Amino acid sequence: MSRMQEAIGFSVAVILAFVVFAPAAAGQGPWPQDKGVKRVDVSSYPAAIRQGYKLLQEDCGACHSVARPLNTTMTPEQWRACATSAHTRLAGIPSKDIPRILDFLIYDQIHRKDKNPTAFFPPPVPIQIAIARAGGH
Ligand code: HEC
Repeated sequence: MSRMQEAIGFSVAVILAFVVFAPAAAGQGPWPQDKGVKRVDVSSYPAAIRQGYKLLQEDCGACHSVARPLNTTMTPEQWRACATSAHTRLAGIPSKDIPRILDFLIYDQIHRKDKNPTAFFPPPVPIQIAIARAGGH
């Protein structure tokens, strides 16, 4: 393939990505996971994990619904990156809350989501994140 063809192919891929993902992400319009449950039954979870859940309910619903974390499946490494990223620091969430929230997210991933993975949604693709950041959701 020539360089020109490669360049055209790449441009077409980028445009397609916009066409496919932009409508879903653009209206900030809730991501599919934003429409899922906003609460989970944590009565069987250890006390410290239940506390992390309470902090998540208090801290994580200011911009998007708490349904977003509760209905997204990610690896523990991805949860760590998410919970410690600028997106929570900029939100003014007390830094002492973050380790508790992260403990809950990882525990809940293993004990609830991993048992029924098709009931939840994969993490957003980069273009969804870029559009959501631009729109502040
Ligand atoms: C200041 C507003 C704001 C607050 C508060 C906030 N988020 Fe977000 N969140 C966003 C935005 C904007 C995105 C999409 C772009 C991005 O990831 O930065 C997002 C995306 C996400 C995603 C999708 C995966 C990802 O990393 O992009 C998850 C999961 C998530 N947030 C969880 C949380 C949790 C857990 C908390 C509480 C610790 C939280 N959010 C608090 C604005 C916020």
